[in-house]
Amino acid sequence: MADSSENVVRKVVLITGSSSGIGAATAIQFATLGYRLSLFALNVPMDEDGLADTKDRCLKANPKLTSDDILTMTGDLTIEKDCHLFIEKTFEKFKRLDVLVANAGVVSASRLENMKMEDFDRVMNINCRVVVLMNKLVIPYLAETKGNIVNVSSVAGLRACNDMMAYCMSKAAVAQLTRCAASELASKGIRVNAVCPGVIDSTRIFHNAGLSTEFHDLMIERVKATHPLGRAGTPEEVAKSIAFLASEEHASFMTGVTLPIDGGRCVSS
Ligand SMILES: NC(=O)c1ccc[n+]([C@@H]2O[C@H](COP(=O)([O-])OP(=O)(O)OC[C@H]3O[C@@H](n4cnc5c(N)ncnc54)[C@H](O)[C@@H]3O)[C@@H](O)[C@H]2O)c1
Repeated sequence: MADSSENVVRKVVLITGSSSGIGAATAIQFATLGYRLSLFALNVPMDEDGLADTKDRCLKANPKLTSDDILTMTGDLTIEKDCHLFIEKTFEKFKRLDVLVANAGVVSASRLENMKMEDFDRVMNINCRVVVLMNKLVIPYLAETKGNIVNVSSVAGLRACNDMMAYCMSKAAVAQLTRCAASELASKGIRVNAVCPGVIDSTRIFHNAGLSTEFHDLMIERVKATHPLGRAGTPEEVAKSIAFLASEEHASFMTGVTLPIDGGRCVSS
């Protein structure tokens, strides 16, 4: 799905959470399309290694890119100054910004009855507040380029999922942010869309949530019944849909969309 005009102007995409899973696959997808990349991940050793690996894979995916075309930074997006710094450094290096992919997020298992409010605040902070702030901070840059935003929500933001109350609420907020921001920013020529993945086979997010490998394997097994296509999705399948929504060539009349990439989970009984 090469976007010829995008290749000519050498567009810049900023992706949060690109050290693994969906964010890493999205970076590689945009690299193949010729974008220059600004990649961000949490400042812990595993993600720092993951981010370096993503950069290597981007360079391999598109030999026309050089190391100088990819900025990598680590920090903690729940610290507001890191959000500001990430965007400022991106602009300082590339002098433009065309696409924000707000992907960084965490999963947490919780039920209303035993909800720990510290956990609720933590999940709402990274999955929702940070996404709002990042959407807000990129507005002046995207207004210049008539760029766009793709937020990563979830099927859990569109329907109830058992035992994931805080996560579901945070992702529903991202879906609604997407609709409101799309309506507000259309007059500036900025499109805002979201993807809503079903269960994606990327073990890292579940491991980080303290869920065991057995739980993960059980969930992937259960997907055969809950997702009509009978399997979990792949990070690459989500990445391709993100690139589609970001493309001016393919999705120029799409804004405010919350696109399920869920093997039919949303329409299953
Ligand atoms: N994996 C799934 O099944 C699934 C399904 C639906 C939606 N999603 C959403 O997709 C997104 C990516 O999920 P994934 O499975 O690829 O996750 P992952 O755990 O593989 O990656 C998460 C990324 O977010 C970054 N991150 C987390 N907290 C951060 C912080 N405080 N500051 C900076 N960066 C931080 C990590 O460094 C990492 O790069 C998340 O928003 C998730 O909710 C995932």
